[in-house]
Amino acid sequence: MYRTHTCGELRMQHVGNTVVLSGWVQSRRDFGGMTFIDLRDRYGITQLFFDESTDAELCALARKLGREYVVRVEGKVRERSNKNPDRPTGDIEIEVQKLDILNESKVPPFTIEEETDGGDELRMTYRYLDIRREPVKEKLIFRSKLAIETRKYLSEHGFIEVETPFLIKSTPEGARDFVVPSRLHAGQFYALPQSPQTFKQLLMVAGMDKYFQIVKCFRDEDLRADRQPEFTQIDCEMSFVSREDILNTFEGLTKHLFKEVLGVALPDFPRMSYDEALRRFGSDKPDLRFGMEFVELNEQVKGKGFSVFDSAELVVGICAEGQAAAYSNKDIKKLTEWLQRPQIGAKGLVYVKFNEDGSIKSSVGKFFEEEALRSWAEHAGAKPGDMLLILAGEAEKTRKQLSELRLEMGRRMGLMKPGVFKPLWVVDFPLLEWDEETQRFHAMHHPFTAPKREDVERMLSGDRETMKQLRADAYDLVINGAEIGGGSIRIHDRALQEKNFKLLGFTREEAEAQFGFLMGAFEYGAPPHGGIAFGFDRLCAVMQGQQSIRDFIAFPKNNQGRDLMIDAPSPIAEEQWEELHLCLRQSEDS
Ligand code: AMO
Repeated sequence: MYRTHTCGELRMQHVGNTVVLSGWVQSRRDFGGMTFIDLRDRYGITQLFFDESTDAELCALARKLGREYVVRVEGKVRERSNKNPDRPTGDIEIEVQKLDILNESKVPPFTIEEETDGGDELRMTYRYLDIRREPVKEKLIFRSKLAIETRKYLSEHGFIEVETPFLIKSTPEGARDFVVPSRLHAGQFYALPQSPQTFKQLLMVAGMDKYFQIVKCFRDEDLRADRQPEFTQIDCEMSFVSREDILNTFEGLTKHLFKEVLGVALPDFPRMSYDEALRRFGSDKPDLRFGMEFVELNEQVKGKGFSVFDSAELVVGICAEGQAAAYSNKDIKKLTEWLQRPQIGAKGLVYVKFNEDGSIKSSVGKFFEEEALRSWAEHAGAKPGDMLLILAGEAEKTRKQLSELRLEMGRRMGLMKPGVFKPLWVVDFPLLEWDEETQRFHAMHHPFTAPKREDVERMLSGDRETMKQLRADAYDLVINGAEIGGGSIRIHDRALQEKNFKLLGFTREEAEAQFGFLMGAFEYGAPPHGGIAFGFDRLCAVMQGQQSIRDFIAFPKNNQGRDLMIDAPSPIAEEQWEELHLCLRQSEDS
């Protein structure tokens, strides 16, 4: 028998019991004739005690134990003389009577404790050691709980979990596909799904009514803290529903998860149109943990002879409360340089400080009378002590830049409070997005998204500006500034789907070759349907107040898309090239 208890469960009530524990040696401390060992398993840490005066041989064996040795001990639970209140098992220790070494361990490459000295790359190379650490292990346990609660809620609400294939053909979600060469079909490739989008729609045609799947998706795109090339979605679809039904169902799911897993009761989620989100926050995923809303100043500032403002399409600012005294000229200069980095690309920054003593200081003081500056304060609701930060330029770009500044100020001012959750539905997204580079429209969500009913007529009939104004029945769930989920009501008739492909620049033949199977299915009684997918890794991270999704994935890729532990991607054997007909292709091409 390896154990009667885990390393996390013994308490004062067990004192006097003889127990068996198995686990890893986290640390060993030798004092004179005594040795203490912290024994760890998934459930916790229990202190072991060896006394040279009772059993010299046993104590000598204990002193041979290195970090991460796997051992089995038998002994008696006793009360500790110096208790550790920070540990659930901190009142007791095991007076060991028998020790078996089950396996030895090399010295681990980094400390396997709450705080570690291992860098990111090293920890990823030895991910199986990193997962032994409490914070990483806890994140995986959290993820597991969240998945279980998701399944519980959705199945209680009539959803059926259906698995869809991984070897498919391209589903466009805006990224590149990972492809898999076929051995049986020379020169042909499967694509790994960027999402199960077309399959879940086919399941609706098939009459499944309510589908869900906690499913891996694959996207070959540039990586960021909140993006992995393979990630997990809670993917859902429903038939005979309006947008309202979907928002209510998945608001319900989100509330359920926060309640059951975090003990947090979320109030009803506000809704905001895409246009409103951009106007008020410069972003379609605003962090609502703080205000600092945009204040448009065109009317106040134009026509006073300051050419930067006069020539700008939009002059817009934010009011940083209580910050006037906190920013020296040097600080403002640094902030301006931060905004001018190519990632943000602002031309400059205008500030107006409304000092506590009633005086005003501004970088545009020589262009505007004090009275004018005071009228800006009134318009922006700035009080003595506050600072207005203003950007000017082309509307869309300027809003984006100011949105970055708003987030940065929010961070600096400590307004992104951990433990505070501000969910938001962003609705009425544009149907299309104009791409300057390729000079064509892309679907803002994906090509299966339905336009709003009132916009159907205008599809194809108008010019580029009209096309930009078309609205989709699409929605995103945003929590604390992170896009957690996105979905839409779908097109369910062939003619409209064809029309949409045409708008997106597909020829009839291209649309047929790529998506004929879906449009064909629409001809056999496709019900009205719609759905949503949550980024499961992102949901985990946001609920735990983390920016990065990496630690919520058991075996993640690094930011070059590599798995450092198994060393993938890696070359394949020459025979495989041949078997997969890749040599053939290569020589044909050259
Ligand atoms: P979308 O592309 O918006 O929609 O994806 C849904 C959610 O998945 C998460 N996500 C990611 N998470 C980690 N790494 C990535 N690379 C990554 N890409 C996306 C985001 C996002 O909101 N088929 C549609 C859904 C639908 O219409 O029902 C889809 O995939 O949190």
